[in-house]
Amino acid sequence: MSNYHIKNLEEYYQVYRKSVRDPENFWEEVAEEHFVWRKRWNKVLEWDFTKPEVKWFEGAQLNITENCIDRHLPTRGNKTAIIFEPNDPKEEAQHITYRELHERVCQMANVLRDKGIQKGDRVCIYLPMIPELAVAVLACARIGAIHSVVFAGFSATALATRINDSDCKMVITSDGSYRGAKTIDLKGIVDDALESCDCVTTVLVAKRIQSEIFMKEGRDHWLQPLLDNAYKDFTAEVMNAEDPLFILYTSGSTGMPKGMVHTTGGYMVYTAYSFKNVFQYREHDVYWCTADIGWITGHSYIVYGPLANGATTVMFEGVPSYPDFGRFWEIVEKHKVNQFYTAPTAIRALAKENLTFVEKYDLSSLKVLGTVGEPINEEAWHWYDDVIGKGQTPIVDTWWQTETGGIMISPIPFATPTIPTFATLPLPGIQPCLMDENGQEIKGRPANGRLCVKFPWPSMARTIWGNHQRYKDTYFSAFENMYFTGDGALRDNTGYYRITGRVDDVIIVSGHNLGTAPIEDAINEHPAVAESAIVGFPHDIKGNALYGYVILKETGEERNHDNLRKEINQLITEKIGPIAKLDKIQFTSGLPKTRSGKIMRRILRKIAHKDTSSLGDTSTLLNPEVVEEIMENAL
Ligand code: WTA
Repeated sequence: MSNYHIKNLEEYYQVYRKSVRDPENFWEEVAEEHFVWRKRWNKVLEWDFTKPEVKWFEGAQLNITENCIDRHLPTRGNKTAIIFEPNDPKEEAQHITYRELHERVCQMANVLRDKGIQKGDRVCIYLPMIPELAVAVLACARIGAIHSVVFAGFSATALATRINDSDCKMVITSDGSYRGAKTIDLKGIVDDALESCDCVTTVLVAKRIQSEIFMKEGRDHWLQPLLDNAYKDFTAEVMNAEDPLFILYTSGSTGMPKGMVHTTGGYMVYTAYSFKNVFQYREHDVYWCTADIGWITGHSYIVYGPLANGATTVMFEGVPSYPDFGRFWEIVEKHKVNQFYTAPTAIRALAKENLTFVEKYDLSSLKVLGTVGEPINEEAWHWYDDVIGKGQTPIVDTWWQTETGGIMISPIPFATPTIPTFATLPLPGIQPCLMDENGQEIKGRPANGRLCVKFPWPSMARTIWGNHQRYKDTYFSAFENMYFTGDGALRDNTGYYRITGRVDDVIIVSGHNLGTAPIEDAINEHPAVAESAIVGFPHDIKGNALYGYVILKETGEERNHDNLRKEINQLITEKIGPIAKLDKIQFTSGLPKTRSGKIMRRILRKIAHKDTSSLGDTSTLLNPEVVEEIMENAL
């Protein structure tokens, strides 16, 4: 029996039981057998959820890039590490071998060091899905700098907030990016952001779209000439297992995003372990995750997890709809993709299109299909299973979070029988539980409650950058001695989990987590707006879309509502990014509030869902009459 590569259900249960009976021993075996360490740990695990403090492999030393690159060189030097598939299918794909990746990462690390970056410094990476992105991430890890990748769809304001929060010294960006038929002026966005960031002294600019851009003397440098002159060797910095590897921001219930901090040793062990099991990766497979490296899925399952296993991982720059809706399937055929990992929102969008977009291509290379980011509805699951998987390719519905670092609940292909919409069983080492509203664990089956985790796992985030108290309040205060996920879930008679969705103020739109508070803050900055409230409502493709209730200031003036709607969405685009735009905006004279002044979102949600049959007791509201008005004018 191998802990590392589970082959059937019986083996899963055996390994799982072992992992729960003696977690330290379990993870020690995995860590010993599959990685190179510069120094062994003194202790496998130390933890206290009340502080909260979690340390894995304390005392151990390593560099994650030696595990992701160097150690493969003797046996896999000429193997492709990264296949870069450009936005435009007419542009040739690039195959970057492990040896080339090593050289490029070393060159980049030398450039970073020449520009004054040292171990522990924060580097913001704001790049499209081009090879430089993966190389920059790994170069930071090699030098021991903490990378903070910001998804290159965020606005200048959102970028500036993230740069300032973690006090980044450097930004790595590009002249621009391609997105389907469009180009985006990334450097312009960085320039705007840096107007309000004093901490950044250097900007490195990769050339991608050959646009004319402004280069600030002394601050901005073209990346390529620096790389061309850099040595192709760089001795990896020796890191402690608990040294931070990266910061990645995720939305929260206040305007300030949370900079989740992931550390080195545990994150490496867990992402590599989960990658191997969940995708059943074999030596000559080609694996493709369609996420952007700007999100945790890309960090863990485009870069670190696959490379730590010596895998071939595809990086796709473009979008599923360009030049047409067959693009994903064309790429699967072209690179003979074996494992394909995407989001329900993409599946729903593609399922709506003509079947010929799929039928044109040979998808017979596919062995495993994955999904992540939000609950997958039954219809989308079946389309994925029938049309893409031809009924023969197991689907892994993987539940996890930015905070968890790696996949937590997921079937293991060919081992776990799947049921549509169920993420099924926890991976070895993961101890989920369901809690009721009184803080008691619900032990039986079936059960429905708030999803928590009661024991640490190696890749959990250790803190929120600069705000440990918020980390404690957000994740460790709702239930005693538990990590609270913010999700609701049910557990069936076999012990399978089904994630029912967020139970907090986060709404998932097209797989992107959006906090309601930052969007409301953005809207409220409009001079005509007095107050606003955002809720989600079901959307065929996006999963959820945003519905805003907006109160205008009393000015006695007539306002053009359509113009206002446009202005509000423009403001959201500037403050957060286009992903947070509202689908519906209803102007109202008031919002339903409790006597203590809290907005009753439950009521607003029901109205947005067009489910007003049972609004519940509204008599306790401060202003019950406003509910009638909102219902009458609902969109
Ligand atoms: C949701 C993405 C149902 C969930 C890796 C979680 C899911 C949030 C699933 C984290 C799934 C993710 N089924 N819901 N398979 N996967 N979620 O931080 O609400 O971007 O809390 O991490 O996405 O989103 P995040």
